[in-house]
Amino acid sequence: MLFCIVQIYMNKEITSGSYSILFKQNGFDRLTNYLNSKNYSKIFIHIDNNTKKFCLDVFLAKITLEKYDLIESCDGEENKNINSCLKLWEIISNNGGDRNSLIINLGGGVVTDMGGFIASTYKRGIDYINVPTTLLSMVDASIGGKTGIDFGILKNQIGTFHDPQMVIIESDFLKTLKTNQISSGYAEIFKHSLIYDLKTFNQLIKNDKINYDLNIIYDSINIKNSIVLIDKKEKKERKSLNYGHTLGHAIESYFLNTEKKLLHGEAIAIGIILASFISNKLFKFSISHVNSIKKHVDSIYKKIEINENQIESIIDLLIHDKKNSHGKINFVLLEDVAKPIYDVQVNKSLIKESFKYYLS
Ligand SMILES: NC(=O)c1ccc[n+]([C@@H]2O[C@H](COP(=O)([O-])OP(=O)(O)OC[C@H]3O[C@@H](n4cnc5c(N)ncnc54)[C@H](O)[C@@H]3O)[C@@H](O)[C@H]2O)c1
Repeated sequence: MLFCIVQIYMNKEITSGSYSILFKQNGFDRLTNYLNSKNYSKIFIHIDNNTKKFCLDVFLAKITLEKYDLIESCDGEENKNINSCLKLWEIISNNGGDRNSLIINLGGGVVTDMGGFIASTYKRGIDYINVPTTLLSMVDASIGGKTGIDFGILKNQIGTFHDPQMVIIESDFLKTLKTNQISSGYAEIFKHSLIYDLKTFNQLIKNDKINYDLNIIYDSINIKNSIVLIDKKEKKERKSLNYGHTLGHAIESYFLNTEKKLLHGEAIAIGIILASFISNKLFKFSISHVNSIKKHVDSIYKKIEINENQIESIIDLLIHDKKNSHGKINFVLLEDVAKPIYDVQVNKSLIKESFKYYLS
């Protein structure tokens, strides 16, 4: 059965404007052909310490590539910043990187976001390719052309829109990924189903465990890509991808330098419960959906205790969220599964009430 599914996905591809999202060995064969046809002056493979250890040899065994340079960054969100970029630009520059160079990002969302950013700015923009190695980067970070780094305590404050030349999905990379990183990526899979696809939502919600088989990964990428294609620059429909992120980002930022530090998806999972509760209060999003979302999330992620002072501080952080404009806090909410509404303003007391619901 698994063999059949893998065979089907080998030759599937998702088109995203100017580039393709390719699967399994077919993707790597296409990459080899692409590199042969393009005659890049320099090829830089961007890795972090973990993807160097766990993914680089696997990747190199799947393609034919005679000459390349490695550029390595330190793993972790705390390194997705301008200092890391300075080092990467320096290595590229010292090693003869020019306008006809290529960067291949082999890693999670930190590597693809930061590698995309350095590619988009080096010599006013060079080509890059994403080979995501975490669940989160496969279904979300590597797709859609948003690149960026964090600034101060705020995430993704500096960035660009710059599409990759291609994205290659190889689920085998997930074999070495830690369980909490799989859960983190699953939050985005679950969110995609909530905002876009009742069928996938029903499939996921009926089990109190994580489902990330290849067809779920494929469907999730398809959802993100379909939304991005309608509204690349996030003027309207793409905002729906921020479901759970307004409060989720603030929670992630708040706990970043504490012992309770959360992974991106762990924070977003809390944000999804909060947004679902608020959706019920403001748009009559079915309470049975809200309760089953909470039950599903609670069964997968550990409960985070958040006291009243911390809730106040998290709400203060919301004001700095880059999705806010004109000083207003904008939420994405749901009328129903697959019926998102964006740019909704929510008052502080309802936000506090939603935290009470999460903690109950
Ligand atoms: N650009 C976008 O549209 C977008 C969307 C969602 C999230 N993001 C960004 O993505 C980032 C989070 O990405 P992430 O969750 O992939 O985190 P990550 O890149 O930090 O990777 C998580 C950890 O797993 C390690 N790792 C990666 N692949 C591995 C493998 N195959 N085996 C073992 N270890 C491996 C990494 O070294 C790291 O320690 C955040 O910075 C977030 O802002 C961007």
